[in-house]
Amino acid sequence: MDRIAILTSGGDSPGMNACIRATARHALDRGLSVLGVIKGYEGLIDGVFIPMESTDVSNIIQRGGTILHTARSPRFREPDGRAAAADSLRRNSVDGLVVIGGDGSFRGAHELYIEHGIPLVGVPATIDNDIWGTDLTIGYDTAVNTALEAIDKVRDTAAAHDRLFIIEVMGRSAGFIALEVGIGAGAEAVLIPETPTDLNAICDRIQGRIARGRTSSILVVAEGDEAGDAFRIAEKVKDMSGLKSRVTVLGHVQRGGSPTTRDRVLASKLGWASVDALMEGAQDVMVGEVDNRVVRHPLPDTWMKRKLLDPLLVTLSENL
Ligand code: F6P
Repeated sequence: MDRIAILTSGGDSPGMNACIRATARHALDRGLSVLGVIKGYEGLIDGVFIPMESTDVSNIIQRGGTILHTARSPRFREPDGRAAAADSLRRNSVDGLVVIGGDGSFRGAHELYIEHGIPLVGVPATIDNDIWGTDLTIGYDTAVNTALEAIDKVRDTAAAHDRLFIIEVMGRSAGFIALEVGIGAGAEAVLIPETPTDLNAICDRIQGRIARGRTSSILVVAEGDEAGDAFRIAEKVKDMSGLKSRVTVLGHVQRGGSPTTRDRVLASKLGWASVDALMEGAQDVMVGEVDNRVVRHPLPDTWMKRKLLDPLLVTLSENL
């Protein structure tokens, strides 16, 4: 192996830059040349590569976003797009590809491997933490802390005005962010896609709090919850109980910001491990971290197996 390429794909997550840095530096140390692909699979299809030296990744470890830019690429979902991408890689003499992204990016990477035999390694980076085979994904810890800080602030105004707030957090169809943030913020209820939502019971609980003299409440809702988005839930709560509420959708603020130490270290470890994996001949795998140890898994396992919520956390969120 003489040359690798690195790309970031799908929704950005804090720590992607730290991962690019570790991957590039370790590859250069091991005598490889390194190319960065601009704008994920879009750049791969269009052949937009930049050479990367050690200094190109200086002063980025603390920055959110991704210096390589990212995209969602409908073209890459088609066989023609993947053929063009494989062609770009061959024309640029790339022997191995590191894909930093989430499950959608991994599915695309796997197709590229199956159809064109490109050796590649995935590194899990998404705020959603919904990837099997790694305890945490890069960006999740930062996103949870960003959301927590925002909810603490909303709690001040909720208490001042004696209001009920319904706060929506990201996570696509997974409740990892909502669950941890809800426990951390001391929310009165956490609504997640993985467990049934009983809005009547939640309304009763809030009414009970009011009867006991508690005048403000926070509900944390995962964007993928079965009861609907935060605005829909606010309407339903009003119809069921007469309770009025304010809605805050935290949205893309959760994707930005400087990564936490935990995310920077995880990103550095996994970027490093992706280079070792490629050089040892691993193909079509993801590197992850389980119980503090770096592991490798076949790429399809990462979306075909379901990562489960910690049942103890679910119990805490329901009882505290
Ligand atoms: O996968 C990361 C994520 O932020 C999800 O939590 C969210 O559902 C989605 O991406 C939003 O995607 P976009 O930025 O393309 O609207």
